[in-house]
Amino acid sequence: MARPLVPRVPGLCFGGDYNPEQWPEEVWAEDVALMKAAGVNLVSIGIFSWAWLEPAEGAYEFGWLDRVIDGLHAGGVAVDLATASASPPPWFSHAYPDTLPVDAGGRRLTYGSRQAYCPSSPRYRAAALRLAEQLAHRYGEHPALAMWHVNNEYGCHIWSCYCEVSADAFRGWLRARYGDLDGLNHAWGTAFWSQRYTDWAQVQPPRATPTWGNPTQALDFKAFSSDELLACFTAERDLLRRLTPDIPVTTNLMPGHAVLDQWAWAREMTGPGLLLSADHYIVAENPLPGPAQVAVAADMSRSLAGGPWLLMEHSTSAVNWQPRNLAKPPGQLIRDSLGHVARGSDGAMFFQWRASRAGAEKWHSAMVPHAGVESKVGREVAELGRHLAALGEVAGSVTEAGAAVLLDFRSAWAQEAPSQPSGDMTAFQEVGRWHAALYAAGVTTDVAPPEADLGRYPLVVAPALYLLTDAGAANLSRYVAGGGTLVVGPYSGMVDEHDHIRPAPLPGALSGLLGVAVEEFFPLPAGATVRLDNGAVGQVWTEVAAAVDATVVARYLDGPLPGLPALTRRAEGAGTVWYAATRLADGPLGEFLADLAGSTGAGPVLPEAPPGLEAVRRRQPGGQSYLFLLNHGDEPARVAADGVELLTGAQARGTLEVAAGGVAVVREVHP
Ligand code: GAL
Repeated sequence: MARPLVPRVPGLCFGGDYNPEQWPEEVWAEDVALMKAAGVNLVSIGIFSWAWLEPAEGAYEFGWLDRVIDGLHAGGVAVDLATASASPPPWFSHAYPDTLPVDAGGRRLTYGSRQAYCPSSPRYRAAALRLAEQLAHRYGEHPALAMWHVNNEYGCHIWSCYCEVSADAFRGWLRARYGDLDGLNHAWGTAFWSQRYTDWAQVQPPRATPTWGNPTQALDFKAFSSDELLACFTAERDLLRRLTPDIPVTTNLMPGHAVLDQWAWAREMTGPGLLLSADHYIVAENPLPGPAQVAVAADMSRSLAGGPWLLMEHSTSAVNWQPRNLAKPPGQLIRDSLGHVARGSDGAMFFQWRASRAGAEKWHSAMVPHAGVESKVGREVAELGRHLAALGEVAGSVTEAGAAVLLDFRSAWAQEAPSQPSGDMTAFQEVGRWHAALYAAGVTTDVAPPEADLGRYPLVVAPALYLLTDAGAANLSRYVAGGGTLVVGPYSGMVDEHDHIRPAPLPGALSGLLGVAVEEFFPLPAGATVRLDNGAVGQVWTEVAAAVDATVVARYLDGPLPGLPALTRRAEGAGTVWYAATRLADGPLGEFLADLAGSTGAGPVLPEAPPGLEAVRRRQPGGQSYLFLLNHGDEPARVAADGVELLTGAQARGTLEVAAGGVAVVREVHP
């Protein structure tokens, strides 16, 4: 079996954020007893405890935390100890108002919430490091300490700051990127609208302007802001690695919240002594169904980790921060948790252990709800604990994926900027929609950047790669020439890394590979659709695309461009590349990708799976495989399976029935 992700917690991790400072000490002993009863083996503590750990500058109070950690240890619960840097206390912000973040309009935000700090503030960074150092000295040798939890969800509320300190840091970042002002003026295209800079002092963050600001400036500021937060993380990480080299370090990413360049973050979050953790919450108003949201978030987390990862937070039922906070019906808690485990999480953790009585999150669900553990949620938490204990041997195994969907953060940021041909040409959502189409077809899909080694995937899809570097384009050509099947969505390959339109023929970076030359865009009005002569339907976008060196597979029947190519195909080397010049509607997109997945061998995992039955396979490096079966439907589902069903111990010989809304995990005999 592979080395556990968290060496002090063998098997799968189970627990959540624990905030004992919100409760009188009498409750702590009950907490530990309830944790033991539920099978909890890991809790995250101290995430928002700075005000309690350092109530005045340089005055540390660890007595209470000693008692919490000792109590947990006595109860057999390991600790994911936070560095508490996510929420500086009022005394700090009051004494050092220059550490508070400033928005694009020049308004300085204040404390009384959380994450009220400027990521570039040297004073904030130094104070965070001092606290982390104290914690490392105090608890580095404690036998309960299983891992470090640096900060919390970097960028969740404050992903950038526009203050003078940040402006200075931005200028430094730009100097390193462009060398001199000529480089900057060229990259930002400042010949436009009299924006030419003649002195570095004139260069600012993209603060509020009368109308559209410079798009490349905005793009660089996003990348800079991601790097500044990353520097906050790596500073704490390096200190902890130096002081406690045996304790793994993580911070919890939010795969669905794309303000960070998560590929760049993943490079700093993986490797010896590090582990990648991520949070996920289902959003009721997301166009994707809940299970597809879980799948794409988990697949993204696994792809960032390059293997097993840890689900650090999700919810037992409703959250508190959406317009309508939908509760989870019976069974969904367990399906969501095991959905993440199926897709590579070596555990299931929640926000939070005990529901808060006060504060902005008092109506957020928890493992111990306000109703107590004798409740739907309490019983399902205990059941999940039993399931995770039964699945211990799955830890370290690798989820098998047959396809990859490409995502580039800089590209998506550029594509979603203002003053584009159509405001409906979303990028992040489109990646989710294509992922969901493959999910519905039963195909497990990794997420990858365009420069990744794609050779192991029979099928790669690129729904929205507006900005594509030369290296990315060359990689895609190599992939196809080597025998891969690539599907490219419209408006891809249009601009270079500075967001400058590439020379004709468009799409400049991909025209040769696709064998297509685009002359003019004809975006569609809101809600309009076009029919294709192969029965498919397009939406959002059409364009005048000539098939210069490609086969036309479908043409428009109506819309602004009847008779022109809508879908093309071209053979290149040993592979094939497809180009969709319109956004195929959900139904036809699903059929198209399902067909390609089948013909290329990308999936599905279980060819005969009934609708609503999700099947995912994890495999130990040694070869043992585990088939996860989640029945999201209202009817029992019978599937082909051979082996031991680990949650019940029952033997599956040839077939297995998964109850409506139920879950099963089979240790397979014939992988
Ligand atoms: C996360 C955060 C937690 C809690 C949770 C509520 O974004 O890390 O502290 O606020 O959301 O859903």
